[in-house]
Amino acid sequence: MKDVKFQFDNKNFVVVGASSGMGRQITLNLAEAGAHVLAVARNEERLQEVQKSFPDLIEVQSLDVLEACPEDWDRVLCEFVANHGKIHGGVYTAGITGMTALRMYDDDFAHRILDTSFFGMTRFIQGMAKKKHASKGSSYVVFASTAAHYGNRGQFAYSGAKGAVCSAVRSLAKELYRDQHRINSISPGWVETDMSLKSRDEIGADRVKEIYDSYPLGVGKPEDVSPMVLFLLSDAARWITGTDIVVDGGSLAGMN
Ligand SMILES: NC(=O)c1ccc[n+]([C@@H]2O[C@H](COP(=O)([O-])OP(=O)(O)OC[C@H]3O[C@@H](n4cnc5c(N)ncnc54)[C@H](OP(=O)(O)O)[C@@H]3O)[C@@H](O)[C@H]2O)c1
Repeated sequence: MKDVKFQFDNKNFVVVGASSGMGRQITLNLAEAGAHVLAVARNEERLQEVQKSFPDLIEVQSLDVLEACPEDWDRVLCEFVANHGKIHGGVYTAGITGMTALRMYDDDFAHRILDTSFFGMTRFIQGMAKKKHASKGSSYVVFASTAAHYGNRGQFAYSGAKGAVCSAVRSLAKELYRDQHRINSISPGWVETDMSLKSRDEIGADRVKEIYDSYPLGVGKPEDVSPMVLFLLSDAARWITGTDIVVDGGSLAGMN
């Protein structure tokens, strides 16, 4: 059986959250398939590490999505369009997680979780979808989580943020189709990245073992999620919009 290969020669994409984990993997896979990629995150050093693999195809931009206003996005996207032409799609993976149990939660932290996953995403899509930036029929993929679909104990802010992403996608799809753009969310299960390493420390070894044992196909790696994102960005997914795709090693189906 042959592997699926994507061809994105002469296509331009923006990936937010490209310095680490799944965003990093998606950036590398897009460049591998021939696309020009604007890789966005805060940590410039880590972005430059990503760029090193495909210096002719990957450009980097350090930006904090919590601070970026519409004018900042406009400046960054105009520059990319000036260099390569209009943009064919975007991926938003920026996110943070953490415990927000009711008995001890800190309002500012809960807001930061929502702002990073949800409002940061809406400002990104607002900028990307402008006619001067977007090629007709663009595709956007934004990151939710299986935490949007079941109750993660002590993490209402994260679950709420990701639930908001899934719901917003249904509404945004109805606005964006006017220019034949599509938007979908991805809900990964537990994927081994910096984020899940941090969660391991927070929730303790016993709970981590329970989680690992509950995955029929084992927990994931960034390369288990990236192919679905590339598929959604491609024209092969031209009939898919306004929905959430779960990529979770069977975790929502459950072991028992
Ligand atoms: N790993 C999992 O098990 C899992 C499961 C379900 C869903 N998800 C979701 O999948 C997405 C990717 O997660 P991951 O595991 O790949 O996480 P990760 O390795 O921690 O990467 C997160 C990325 O977001 C960027 N980011 C965070 N805050 C930002 C800000 N204020 N401005 C700009 N960039 C920011 C980080 O870059 P800088 O630090 O350089 O800014 C980094 O590139 C997230 O939305 C996460 O919630 C993860």
